[in-house]
Amino acid sequence: MRPSSIGVVGCGLMGSGIAEVCARAGYQVKVREVSDELLARGLASIQKSLGKAVARGKASQDQAEQAMARITGTLQLSEFSDCDLAIEAAIENMNIKKEIFAELDRILPPHAILASNTSSLCITEMASVTGRGEKVLGIHFFNPVPVMPLLEFVRTILTSEDTMRAAHEFGASLGKTMVTAKDTPGFIVNRLLIPYLLDAVQVYENGLATKEDIDAAIKLGLNHPMGPLTLLDFVGLDTCLFIADAMYNEYKDSRYAAPPLLRRMVLAGHMGRKSGRGFYDYS
Ligand code: CAA
Repeated sequence: MRPSSIGVVGCGLMGSGIAEVCARAGYQVKVREVSDELLARGLASIQKSLGKAVARGKASQDQAEQAMARITGTLQLSEFSDCDLAIEAAIENMNIKKEIFAELDRILPPHAILASNTSSLCITEMASVTGRGEKVLGIHFFNPVPVMPLLEFVRTILTSEDTMRAAHEFGASLGKTMVTAKDTPGFIVNRLLIPYLLDAVQVYENGLATKEDIDAAIKLGLNHPMGPLTLLDFVGLDTCLFIADAMYNEYKDSRYAAPPLLRRMVLAGHMGRKSGRGFYDYS
């Protein structure tokens, strides 16, 4: 089943990117934010990204305008009552996500699929507050959503084969490459990425090399697009710490234990690009 109408919960960094790629693929998209201000900011960032796609020759002006016209902003989840697929991209807080899932379960039509874009939280726990566990899965996008080619599906022990088939059709329609992971903290990408990023903070903290040299070594020695400390700033130090803590809580394995410097930088408000300062200064 190819969905025709998609609801996206949250229009922050990830939600706005998800709404944009869905609209560019031809879907009608409703995007819900919690205030007029956040909604206006999210829609403006979609407009800006579409402008960048036009400037880079990835879309025509006409395609960008049509994509924008397919997106409707709202403050009410009740407007998702005709959506075939809802993708939750709200803040990484399990209680808030469970409230959203329970509400969407009441609002969405019975055939609709309910997905979370969480990077580390338990999809089965979100499914547990709905009466449609077989239609719940994780659809994890990567930042920047319009550019990164991967979709990571997270299948719980409840998710049905039909739901996975529909998710694959949806992912293919966005032009993404898909992988599937079991519902375990970090899934595939973060299970491998987070220990690497934590190691980078630790070797920097221990004085192995300057931050510039650590980043240059990985960027040029391994042909990565960004060195690990630049990537930490890009993803957000708070986000990395949150994922690391979630993984440590579940596995109790020191590979996921955040180094003291990372926690202190977050406490000091040095979150990376979004706060203007992380390992590097963006002011
Ligand atoms: N729409 C469509 N295409 C766009 C676009 C837009 N809004 N903006 C840029 N592009 C295209 C550009 O045209 C360009 O395409 P070509 O290569 O075909 O020319 C490509 O995207 C790269 O764009 P830029 O030249 O602007 O950027 P760059 O070359 O400096 O790369 C980057 C920027 C893509 C961010 C790169 O540095 C990179 O890949 N960094 C690593 C990002 C990463 O690892 N992300 C995952 C983080 S982890 C995560 O998200 C999950 C989690 O749970 C934490």
